[in-house]
This record gives sequence, structure tokens and C-alpha cells, in this order.
Amino acid sequence: MNTPATQFPGKVFLVGAGPGDPELLTLKAHRLLRQADLVLHDDLVSAAVLSLAGRRTIVVNVGKRCGVKKITQGEINALMVDAAREGKQVVRLKSGDPGVFGRLNEELEWLRAAKIAFEIVPGITTANAAAASLGVSLTDRDKSARVIFVSGHQSGAKGPVDEPDWNSLAQADATIVVYMPGKGLRHLSRKLIAAGLAPETSAVLIAQVSSPQQNQFWTTVGALGELDSSATPSILLIGRALDHAAAHAAIESLPDLQSIKNLLPARNERRIAS
Ligand SMILES: C[S@@+](CC[C@H](N)C(=O)[O-])C[C@H]1O[C@@H](n2cnc3c(N)ncnc32)[C@H](O)[C@@H]1O
Repeated sequence: MNTPATQFPGKVFLVGAGPGDPELLTLKAHRLLRQADLVLHDDLVSAAVLSLAGRRTIVVNVGKRCGVKKITQGEINALMVDAAREGKQVVRLKSGDPGVFGRLNEELEWLRAAKIAFEIVPGITTANAAAASLGVSLTDRDKSARVIFVSGHQSGAKGPVDEPDWNSLAQADATIVVYMPGKGLRHLSRKLIAAGLAPETSAVLIAQVSSPQQNQFWTTVGALGELDSSATPSILLIGRALDHAAAHAAIESLPDLQSIKNLLPARNERRIAS
């Protein structure tokens, strides 16, 4: 199904690199990385994953993060097609899963039109890795019947598009995962509440998922605007399926009894009134 009829010997593998931890890479992705002639990767692919490329593999960063264009989509397409026409095995490596906010279709259209053989190798998307690291299930028999993946950053090759229709997405029985949440968390909070989501709904912003620097910031929909959103890359999870983990995080953030006692004056000490 993946491969159009082709007369060219090379092939392009569109591979998911997972969220960063190389142990979350599939065995297939690992094998292809070792065997590839050329790896074209996005900015968010971790150095640890790239270090698994073969010794003779040429590794090129074709990332366009935050709109700072180093290379155009057309140039990336041309690189893939030209290399495959020359008989090369090309790995187009994208963070997470290539089919989740990865501009996969743009590249597939191009490969199909150029009659280049291709194969998609799925990866662990950030939402799954984030939930696992927090001890959370994205679905919950009682609290979450649906999972919604939505992009907070809605711009594309055809120019900015409308922001998501929060009225249809903000459902109490859904876990909402916002990729690229950006800096507009106060705006998002207002939109979600206006769409009917309870302000006390649990939310967590998780930065650098699966790396040693992973950090999570627990909050609620009503208090989203107070979060410092400067850590990147980050992903936002919202919904009642997070409630248990949120409660645990709140308990863990309490000072332990001994540290509270240490703050109190010793029994034979007298406070000196100022
Ligand atoms: C262009 S999208 C690519 C998503 C990717 N295809 C996936 O399945 O995870 C980039 C966004 O994914 C999220 N992301 C990717 N890797 C991440 C990580 N290690 N930690 C937190 N968020 C990450 C961030 O929201 C980032 O802005």
C-alpha cells in the first residue's frame, strides 16, 4: 500500500523518532537509522537518537522550528526525491509519530507524484510518552471516553487558519492534548471556560518529555494563564483522566511534617516581638 509503482531503486522511509529517549525508538526505526545512506531530520529529534545512525550515514538537519526557515519544504522534498532516484535509502526522521502534526501529507504527495517508493514507520507520539511518564491513562472508563489531539499553533503553508473550535473540543469527558501550546495559555484558559469546561479541570504542561530534563507543571484550566510557558518543547494535557495524578502531585509538593516542624520555634525558644 505504501509503495507506488516505481522505476527508481531508492526508497524513502518516513520514520517516527519518538519523543527523545532512544529507548522509545522502535526496533525498525533503529535498524533503518543504522542502514540509511541519508537521514533528513527535524529539529526536535534528540541527539541521542541521531547518535544511532550508521557510521557511513549522512545526517542532515532540515528543521524549520518556530518559523525560522533554514530550508523550505520544497527543498526537503527535492532532497528526498533526488537521493531516492540515485538509489539511496533515505530516512526522513520526524519527532514523535510522523503522522501527528508532522506535515507528513505534504511529503507523501510529493513522493507519490515523483513515483518514489516509500514506507511510513510509526513512532511513539509525545502525548503517549507524556501520559506514561506521569502514570496517567489518556482514557478512563469513568472520566474520559475520548482523546483529542489538537495543535495550539495553527499556521501552515497556506497561511494562518482559524484557531480550533473549542466549543466542540472542550468536552468534560475528553482528554485534550494540545501540541505546540505556545504562549497563549491565558487566552486558551478563557476559551475553554467559555466553551463550558469547568475551571477546576486538571491540566499539566510537560516540557522535554522523556529526556532527563523533563519537567511538569500541574495546574487547572482556570489557572492556566499563570503558568510559565517558556520551557520548550512542551505539551499540554487537560481533563479529568488526570485527576488522580494531579492529586498525587499536589500531595508530593506539600512540605513534609519534619520540614514544617523545623520552621517552628523550639519549645524553650521565645519569639522576640519586633
Ligand atoms: C511539529 S509537532 C510534532 C509532534 C510529533 N510528531 C509527535 O508525534 O509528538 C512539535 C510539537 O510536539 C511536541 N513535542 C515534540 N517532542 C516533544 C517533547 N520531547 N516534549 C514535549 N513536547 C514535545 C511539542 O508540542 C512541539 O511543539
